Amino acid sequence: MPALPLSAQVAVIGAGAMGAGIAQVAAQAGHPVKLYDNRPGAAAQAIAGIDQRMGQRVKAGKLADSARLACLANLQACDALPQLADARLVIEAIVEQLAVKRQLFAELESLCAPDCLLASNTSSLSITTLAAELAHPERFAGLHFFNPAPVMALVEVVSGLATASDAAHTLYDTARAWGKQPVHTRSTPGFIVNRVARPFYAESLRLLQEGAADSATLDALLREAGGFAMGAFELTDLIGHDVNYAVTCSVFDAYYQDMRFQPSLIQKELVDAGRLGRKSGQGFYDYREGAQRPLPRSLSSNASVEHCVAEGLPPLFDGLLARLESQGVAVTRRPGSGLLRCGEAVLALSDGRMASQRARDQGLQNLVLLDLALDFASARRVGIAWASDTAPAAVDQAVALLTRAGLAVSALSDTPGLCVLRTVAMLANEGADAALQGVASVADIDLAMRAGVNYPRGPLAWADALGLDRVLTVLQHLQAAYGEERYRPSLLLRRCLAEGRHLHD
Ligand code: NAI
Repeated sequence: MPALPLSAQVAVIGAGAMGAGIAQVAAQAGHPVKLYDNRPGAAAQAIAGIDQRMGQRVKAGKLADSARLACLANLQACDALPQLADARLVIEAIVEQLAVKRQLFAELESLCAPDCLLASNTSSLSITTLAAELAHPERFAGLHFFNPAPVMALVEVVSGLATASDAAHTLYDTARAWGKQPVHTRSTPGFIVNRVARPFYAESLRLLQEGAADSATLDALLREAGGFAMGAFELTDLIGHDVNYAVTCSVFDAYYQDMRFQPSLIQKELVDAGRLGRKSGQGFYDYREGAQRPLPRSLSSNASVEHCVAEGLPPLFDGLLARLESQGVAVTRRPGSGLLRCGEAVLALSDGRMASQRARDQGLQNLVLLDLALDFASARRVGIAWASDTAPAAVDQAVALLTRAGLAVSALSDTPGLCVLRTVAMLANEGADAALQGVASVADIDLAMRAGVNYPRGPLAWADALGLDRVLTVLQHLQAAYGEERYRPSLLLRRCLAEGRHLHD
């Protein structure tokens, strides 16, 4: 099915943050758009807001004034629902309440033409449930934009049980014609992004709760080693803890309290205290006037390091070795089992075991474990943890070596999977489960995480690059260490490994 023609009337209901943004996107693409809100004056106010925001972009030289005028000419504020009768597509973005949305769609069905597409921007309600009482549920789907809609590329096209594939494809092609990056997904709790992203927050929250490191250090690791735009604490401070906690609770409940989605007591306490993040002035960080943002902790070392031995290090570390060599450190390469020796220190990428346990299992002395980096050639920081019997001098040498490569080094307590590695393994695990359960394709899951939450790499492509055996091992070790269902590996990882293929094959 092709996209809706540009002449097709679009209607957006709810002129709040999302409705206004969606109306702007459709009007900028060239559709005539009617915006309706049941609060008198709200639609006109929202259009004035669009005008103002676009005007700022014109002033900044980022938008032609003719584009602003063309968009505004396409926007019409409405104050009664019947005015939307000529719409070919209605997108609802009203309050997140099932009964209120259902009532609205029932009215729309009696008002709009039989071939008018009906869509909801809901984040947490089931598309199947919303459609259940409709006379024609086949023309109903989710069209889930991300905030702010004019900026964020992703649109999840959500099919309920009764959604016709023609309708989903028209919505997909229409979103694409609007300059968006659509993905297809089935109506399941959290759809793609709000489900697969849960471990990003959950693992940091758990690490903080267990005292593995402070929030500024964990955020810095995800940013400067993991390549994420923000760490979990600064991001949830921005989103608002009330919002983020509510999404986690809704996904947790919708999956019958599956412990993989268990909300965090730390976050609940912030919500209980009214520390909702930036909007309330305090969250994990203090945003009040004069408050200082804490700095991540970095280790320093006086040891001098001129030489190291790379014994069968995985290619992941090529960038690190090149950085060391460019700084004049002599690197000897020889076959081996993935160790980097430097003085007395033995460095290795974490495999999900605690350093003390791995040192004992493998009979390694002075073991220092490295966290994952997105790319060791460009990372600015790396996390380390060491075994209880690792000599302080060996830690010093390891820190000196990594510092020589230009990396800031942050210590974590001896924690399974450190920070970036366990976060990425858990994101990939959740993405694999979503793919296994037919929520979306492997390609669309990765696309959604890149376009919807700006991940530097799709978690499934990241797992393919790391090696699925490595990811599976990390998860198994996490599961063994915690004894929790939360870390159980997805069947899809095991299946791909058994079949000798990648997730993306
Ligand atoms: P909002 O509270 O900013 O705006 C909702 C608007 O709907 C208000 O202007 C309200 O007056 C109007 N409204 C309420 N009931 C109505 C009715 N029966 N008929 C007509 N208008 C009605 O809410 P927001 O944040 O724009 O969210 C709207 C929807 O989008 C919700 O379903 C939400 O889950 C979803 N969503 C929100 C995102 C966000 O980051 N805020 C992201 C993606 C989806």
